[in-house]
Amino acid sequence: MSSLLTALSGHRPARLPVWFMRQAGRSLPEYLEARKGTSILEACLKPELAAEITLQPVRRHGVDAAIFFSDIMTPLVLAGVDVDIQPGIGPVIAEPVRTAADVDRLVAHEAGDPSAIAEAVRLVVAELGEETPLIGFAGAPFTLAAYLVEGRGSRDHLAARAMMHADPEGWNRLLGWCADISGAFLTTQVDAGARAVQLFDSWAGSLTRADYSNYVAPHSARTLAAVEGRVPRIHFGTGTLHLLTDMAALGVEAMGIDYRTPLDEAAWLLPGIPLQGNIDPALLAAGWDALRAHAADVVDRGRAAPAHVVNLGHGVPPTTDPGVLTELVAFLHEL
Ligand code: CP3
Repeated sequence: MSSLLTALSGHRPARLPVWFMRQAGRSLPEYLEARKGTSILEACLKPELAAEITLQPVRRHGVDAAIFFSDIMTPLVLAGVDVDIQPGIGPVIAEPVRTAADVDRLVAHEAGDPSAIAEAVRLVVAELGEETPLIGFAGAPFTLAAYLVEGRGSRDHLAARAMMHADPEGWNRLLGWCADISGAFLTTQVDAGARAVQLFDSWAGSLTRADYSNYVAPHSARTLAAVEGRVPRIHFGTGTLHLLTDMAALGVEAMGIDYRTPLDEAAWLLPGIPLQGNIDPALLAAGWDALRAHAADVVDRGRAAPAHVVNLGHGVPPTTDPGVLTELVAFLHEL
């Protein structure tokens, strides 16, 4: 079995599995070359291009998994929602969802045709073979809704967090719809050959624990249920120390830990659960000595968990020297 799948099943493989969130992307010159003249969301719908970009970091760095090149916004595009990803800004929603009537209009959109996604996944899996699994992913309902309500990224997600209290019924319809399109996106990827999935609730950290339990967790559970029993599911958020036990309780097979929480502390909170993480992305630019010492410390702390998938504590910064990532993978494989 591949080292990633062994670790996600709770066992320790001979060699630590390593992959990086955002391993495909702007840190790679071959990515910039392949993407030239194509917007990111267009690239996600071109099967050959999406497959090529997915494979680039596997070839270059020798990581132990591929993560499907797409975006948490792709299901919105497939559903016909007007969304754009603007350089330096991120996702921008043309018509933010603020009122009950906006929610009605949004939820009238159907999931759309996923055949381009399925085709891209099949191309990737055919080239990867048995040893290196493809990880599929989706955005969690809250993180998607945070963009849909705010219209773009924000720090505190005030409009989204106000809406869940002002109109709980509308909020639940909105998150139910997000849960369904993200669940369908995961199902498409698994049907086509993805052998693990990760649910990104990147912005859940802005929620109180009570709001997470009452207004968010049931919807995330519904997305995760779409592929339950088929592949291992990793659940990740940032700034979520106060939510880790609730996020794990949704019945996932592994938890992704951001760079703020040491893995031994996370292991104490989440007994028996394989952990993924959590090299601080800032250290990628701190020089080799500092990075190596930090990476070794992350691995040491990770021994408190039943199994450990090494990753960053958030995505690869676009300014990262890709040579550093290649060297880091080699270093981790020697530990
Ligand atoms: O290598 C991988 O991890 C696979 C590809 C991937 C992308 N987006 C491609 C992408 C994945 C897993 C995502 C998930 C995603 N997208 C998340 C969750 C992960 C996280 O970072 O917390 C979120 C919040 C988004 C929404 C989004 N898309 C943002 C905030 C941005 C950055 C905008 C910017 O300019 O910095 C994007 C764009 C995006 N998605 C890029 C990539 C490679 C960069 C834009 C580009 O290459 O033109």
